[in-house]
Amino acid sequence: MQETIDYIKKQIKDFKPEIGIILGSGLGDFADNVAGIRIKYQDIPGFEKSTVAGHKGQLVFCEADGKKFVVMQGRYHYYEGYHISRIVYPIKVMKKLGVKTLIITNAAGSVNKKYNAGDLMVITDHINLMGVNPLIGENDASLGDRFPDMSEVYKKSLIQLTLQKAKELNMQVRQGVYAAMSGPSYETPAEINMLRIMGADAVGMSTVPEALVANYCGMDVLGISCITNSAAGVHPSRLSHAEVVETAAKVKDSFKNLLVSVIREI
Ligand code: HPA
Repeated sequence: MQETIDYIKKQIKDFKPEIGIILGSGLGDFADNVAGIRIKYQDIPGFEKSTVAGHKGQLVFCEADGKKFVVMQGRYHYYEGYHISRIVYPIKVMKKLGVKTLIITNAAGSVNKKYNAGDLMVITDHINLMGVNPLIGENDASLGDRFPDMSEVYKKSLIQLTLQKAKELNMQVRQGVYAAMSGPSYETPAEINMLRIMGADAVGMSTVPEALVANYCGMDVLGISCITNSAAGVHPSRLSHAEVVETAAKVKDSFKNLLVSVIREI
């Protein structure tokens, strides 16, 4: 960790990010046109190479509206085969760099039958069905408690702020529960039925490990899903990553507008 921090600090000097943003599938270009310092994951000691097509794999340190950001263009997924501790390593790095608020975005399938592809959903809570917890192992007490409370992982005031900003932008935004599966296979119709009975509204293969660790580290978390497809069994069509990326690309401008107006008020 010290080597990671030393390497990053050498590039960013005394820049101190307060807000972290993780960009999910199709949203990776959010920080493309901003001036900032870019560091590729592959160059950072302790970081893995990101392998998913459509994910860039770099940190962008930038400033807007007087606020300082570190943006993850691309993330690690458990299904890529990394140990779960590697997936959440960047979150711990953000904490050490001074990040207080983490905004997590993702692409997700809709479990809730009222949702449509292209909808945005503010995450109110999650169900971890990845089969693993990123805090398993020795606890680093300098980061957080051995048995962290999880009663408000997604901060209510940030959820309210996002809903308020959506209203001002005349956007319909859903709020619901995100269920995380390991992937990489999509779910079966029976699994989606199970998730619905459990109380999930959307399903995806990320976010939960990151949110869990951010909460453990004492960060405020906001999660927003871009509903890219109806989950398996809702419609007769087959699921594909191309569809996920295509829908995410279609809504990225409104997603960006929402993010920018939320960020202004944090
Ligand atoms: N299932 C799981 N993960 C996803 C989906 C889905 O339907 N869509 C986007 N990510």
